[in-house]
Amino acid sequence: METNSSAKQEGETLWLPLKGKTVMVTGATSGLGKATAELLVEHGACVVLVGRDPSKVQKTKEELLKKHEKGNIETGICDLISLNSIRQFAKEFISKKIPLHYLINNAGIGAMDVDTITEDGFEKMFQTNCLGQFYLTNLLVPTLKTSAPARILNITSMLILKADRQEVEFYATHIDSKFQHRFGGEYGRTKMLVCLFSNELNRRLKDSGVISIAVHPGLLRTNIGANWWGPVWLFMSTLMKIGGSPPEDGAKNLLNLMVDSRLKGGEYFHVDKPSNGIACIHDQEFSSWYWDRCVEWLKEKQHSISWEKEEGSE
Ligand SMILES: NC(=O)c1ccc[n+]([C@@H]2O[C@H](COP(=O)([O-])OP(=O)(O)OC[C@H]3O[C@@H](n4cnc5c(N)ncnc54)[C@H](OP(=O)(O)O)[C@@H]3O)[C@@H](O)[C@H]2O)c1
Repeated sequence: METNSSAKQEGETLWLPLKGKTVMVTGATSGLGKATAELLVEHGACVVLVGRDPSKVQKTKEELLKKHEKGNIETGICDLISLNSIRQFAKEFISKKIPLHYLINNAGIGAMDVDTITEDGFEKMFQTNCLGQFYLTNLLVPTLKTSAPARILNITSMLILKADRQEVEFYATHIDSKFQHRFGGEYGRTKMLVCLFSNELNRRLKDSGVISIAVHPGLLRTNIGANWWGPVWLFMSTLMKIGGSPPEDGAKNLLNLMVDSRLKGGEYFHVDKPSNGIACIHDQEFSSWYWDRCVEWLKEKQHSISWEKEEGSE
């Protein structure tokens, strides 16, 4: 109750610029994504709820409309572990010809979802947290650019600190392999790639009016640890339950970053503070290498992104 009224108060001033803007939230059916979608609907944004499970997406929409009956809500189905699903969703969204002012790349899976290979032939956590996000975002870039000023928020994790650059390089060249499990390692690697992607995207969008940032949202009580097992991860999920903040706190922080006029793009935020994170996420050669690898992987699977090529030929 108290949370809602203080959020409302903040919203009346700080979040006013979000009114009438279109915001796409991936992973909007649970945790941080759902809380962010709700806060945005409450403050007058047009929210595109994106999820992998049609019934969950519909349920989320109904829940939000029950609380905010004048809410402006679109929905879309996009399973990040299927490149075809991503392409289909982007095509449908683009055909609606609605603007897109913010894209929140929030969907993600945690530590235990490793070693499964997707229908496209990639390791599941890599495709969900990295390649799927890369593909979806790039398909939406033309819409973001015509809607500029626009922002892309990529949700990462402070567990990038547990990732090692050499491991990330190996990981990013063997993405159909199984990996040695190491506490925080697999997940941290994917989240380091999210940071590389965010920075490289921001560079490539230079002067377009679209910026990209990476955000560690804080320790939040969500469903991400629901399938974790083993003593260390069970400890982690218990810690999240006991010490984590409600996802609504993470959502408020995201809204603050969405309207913060001081942002230039390319920042990494540890919750609400700009931070260096880890040195290699700022290495341009590394992020450019990763970008090119993603383009090649997509090409190998007969998927492509075209906005850079089209601009180059103008
Ligand atoms: N919670 C934390 O403490 C914490 C800390 C740092 C970073 N993060 C990051 O915050 C983001 C949100 O996570 P959360 O904590 O809110 O966890 P969550 O409650 O588990 O939410 C994750 C969302 O991602 C969706 N998703 C999973 N796989 C997908 C796929 N293949 N295609 C499309 N959507 C998919 C889920 O859909 P379903 O509802 O269908 O499962 C769900 O909506 C993640 O990127 C996570 O890595 C969280």
